[in-house]
Amino acid sequence: MPFRRAFYYAGIAASVLLSGTAAKAAESLPLAAPSDHQTGVDLIARGKYLAIASDCAACHTDPDSKKVFAGGYAIHSPMGIIYSSNITPSKQFGIGNYTEEQFSRAVRDGVRGDGSYLYPAMPYPSYAGLTDADIHALYAYFMHEVKPVDEQPQQTALNFPFNMRFSMAGWNLLFLHNKPFKPQEDHDATWNRGKYLVDTVEHCSECHTPRNALMALQGGDALYSGAMLGSWHAPNLTSDPVSGLGSWSDKDLAQYLQSGHVDGKAQAAGPMAEAVTNSLQYLHDDDIKAIIAYLRTLPPVRDPSQTKAAADFGTVSNTDTATRGIHPISKFLSADASGQTLYDAACSSCHQPDGKGTQDGFYPSLVHNTTLGGSSPDNLVSAILFGVQRTVNGKSVLMPAFGPYSDVQALTDKQVATLSNYLLKQYGNPQLSVTEEDVKTIRQGGATPLIAKIAAPASLGAGLIVLILVVLLVVWRLRRKRR
Ligand code: HEC
Ligand code: HEC
Ligand code: HEC
Repeated sequence: MPFRRAFYYAGIAASVLLSGTAAKAAESLPLAAPSDHQTGVDLIARGKYLAIASDCAACHTDPDSKKVFAGGYAIHSPMGIIYSSNITPSKQFGIGNYTEEQFSRAVRDGVRGDGSYLYPAMPYPSYAGLTDADIHALYAYFMHEVKPVDEQPQQTALNFPFNMRFSMAGWNLLFLHNKPFKPQEDHDATWNRGKYLVDTVEHCSECHTPRNALMALQGGDALYSGAMLGSWHAPNLTSDPVSGLGSWSDKDLAQYLQSGHVDGKAQAAGPMAEAVTNSLQYLHDDDIKAIIAYLRTLPPVRDPSQTKAAADFGTVSNTDTATRGIHPISKFLSADASGQTLYDAACSSCHQPDGKGTQDGFYPSLVHNTTLGGSSPDNLVSAILFGVQRTVNGKSVLMPAFGPYSDVQALTDKQVATLSNYLLKQYGNPQLSVTEEDVKTIRQGGATPLIAKIAAPASLGAGLIVLILVVLLVVWRLRRKRR
């Protein structure tokens, strides 16, 4: 079971994730090739590139059956499991009967061909920024090149009140604000392309922007300031030199986005590894440059608790002891083993006794590593529990998981906390700490959002939420009539 993947989008799906970011758009900017009159092969090729850049396959492919775009991928949200739809051109089970208009409504407005509302586990609030020309290209690709798969994926069946799809109309009214992208005249073409890619196509803010109590993305100062994402933490991407990416060179950023690894600085695990594996590694160099140009201009947001950049923490320390890399590891892992013993036994064979990793950088240094020096210890804990998996240029990067499904050694919550605290003191930001309880929460997929707690099936809160949603719907209807 794709345990690891299941939680990636949990924050997202956590009802209702995605809302519009700040994409204030103005006029259509094509992504790959700049003509709106492409036909045939060119058009389909552009649609395919867009489908990769917007990562449609990641959510619309069941990792067990591996039937691309046939749906059935389970998004474990705190409201229950939401299964993605079959978006192959199958007439019976997919979108084979969709007109381009219906396709556009589904992808940009979150309304299905039959008029029912989609949950924002489908990131339509970000895709609302897609231009008409790009919707056209995507439609051509799905209809003419994707092969139909005549199979019905697992159907979504959420509990009351979340099973009422019409309630999303109220949510959309509040949070669906994006319009098809239009370039801003006070910026050059590269920046505009970067903005379109980051805000809309690659939907970076779905993960990197924090959400409000109703699970919509926050705007203003919160944009790209970093967010919890199930078990993981998506760091601050603003231009701040301490809390954000201000101290990263263009070369570092390009390398990170295209490979997920920058020696002596950072690696992509969890949901970011998925984004690199499925999407970012395939972007043209010009598009990566454009993304970087736009990221450079995100207004800086500083976390006041941070005093220096995440990659500046840590000193080398040689901890070589008799236990290094010894098998079976479990022999040394008593319930009260020290952090150093745990490190020597479970980690140092790859990350080396001094924590500096291997010379070639394949096994990364834990000193000067953003995972240990940032504002949150969650990615350290998640990397230990769930490991690291990424495939770039056909080559796999793999760190084994030490969580419940470990092939090497399952560590307990207490052991993970002890080990993490040792590593944070030794190689990372010594102000961070991890409790056994924190590890338990991260193991279970992260903290439950408020909306899921109050709407737990048996609770009175459910009725209240329904009432609010119905009122919102009425308001929405009235507003429409007035227009
Ligand atoms: C983050 C995950 C995610 C991504 C990325 C994503 N989708 Fe979806 N999509 C979903 C889920 C989940 C549903 C079903 C939601 C529901 O049942 O309310 C869905 C539903 C749809 C539907 C409605 C089909 C129907 O009749 O039910 C269409 C069309 C669609 N997606 C197209 C796309 C396209 C095109 C892309 C890429 C541009 C894309 N999706 C990317 C998760 C995703
Ligand atoms: C599906 C969720 C998701 C999406 C989409 C996503 N990210 Fe990330 N990103 C993450 C997570 C989680 C991490 C932390 C990974 C780790 O440390 O192993 C991360 C890490 C990063 C980092 C490294 C930051 C650091 O301090 O180490 C950069 C840079 C980054 N993302 C940029 C982007 C950009 C640009 C986009 C869009 C093109 C994007 N991300 C899309 C989830 C996501
Ligand atoms: C079999 C070799 C191996 C072992 C054992 C191992 N690691 Fe790793 N570790 C890796 C590889 C490979 C990566 C990913 C490198 C990359 O992303 O390019 C990694 C990455 C990491 C990262 C960065 C993750 C991120 O999100 O950026 C951390 C932190 C880490 N390891 C800590 C540990 C700890 C703690 C242990 C012991 C419990 C451990 N590793 C054991 C090979 C290993």
